[in-house]
Amino acid sequence: MRPQADPILMTTMRLPFIAANWKMFKTVHEAVVYAKEFRGAVKDVDDVEIVLAPPFTALHAVAEAVRNTNVGVAGQNLHWEREGAFTGEISAAMLTEAGAEYVIIGHSERRTYFGETDDTVNRRTLAALTAGLTPIVCIGETLDERDAGQTLDVLDRQIKGGLDHLTATQAALLVIAYEPVWAIGTGRNASPEQAEDAHAHIRTRLRQWFGAEAAEQCHIIYGGSVKPGNIAELVVQLDVDGALVGGASLDLRAFAEIVSKSRRAKV
Ligand code: PGA
Repeated sequence: MRPQADPILMTTMRLPFIAANWKMFKTVHEAVVYAKEFRGAVKDVDDVEIVLAPPFTALHAVAEAVRNTNVGVAGQNLHWEREGAFTGEISAAMLTEAGAEYVIIGHSERRTYFGETDDTVNRRTLAALTAGLTPIVCIGETLDERDAGQTLDVLDRQIKGGLDHLTATQAALLVIAYEPVWAIGTGRNASPEQAEDAHAHIRTRLRQWFGAEAAEQCHIIYGGSVKPGNIAELVVQLDVDGALVGGASLDLRAFAEIVSKSRRAKV
């Protein structure tokens, strides 16, 4: 069960959402050592939705290490078919049985290096929702696209294509990660204003395509060089509901600090 914001304490119904994307880092042993220490570091945080996305090999062990805590676990990808001859792929049922409740879909590294398209993002998103997994759908423009003034068009295309055929109820459950490609792993994060502009645009489109309620409930999180030093100014923006953190999440202390600095940012 995903945690819910307290409607009386929060000005928004959306609890901050902070996820660690470990990418192709950490062996099973390293991941479990981290998870066991991390669960203690964040055990009193009841107002942030916290997620770790380990590599597939470590997913089950990490899920066991954080079982019955306030920390959830995500896969980094899934295939849309239930099973079959798809060497190297993982199904939604495999993820849920291993203990995942979330799954990252369409990360820019998958789009760039592994041929992911808006169509495959759409198939994966529908498969995840059908299996009861919360999709963390990644979108974002390249530097060339931003420089050419195409940012909002790119986001529209990715949202429209990636979220095709979803119902309003399904859209409400989504986490959308706005990750400008030029900010990922570069140390150059989007300014709070750039992030808010993109997030507000995404929410407007969600409102047009899925209705006001789904748009209000859907989490739109920012990713790209998030660190303890910039999380507070990002998450305080009206439509920035949290962060997907790559590099800085590999360090337990830094990630715990990011979680703590995102708390109650919207009260
Ligand atoms: P980064 O990665 O924090 O290292 O920029 C973010 C991501 O790829 O999700």
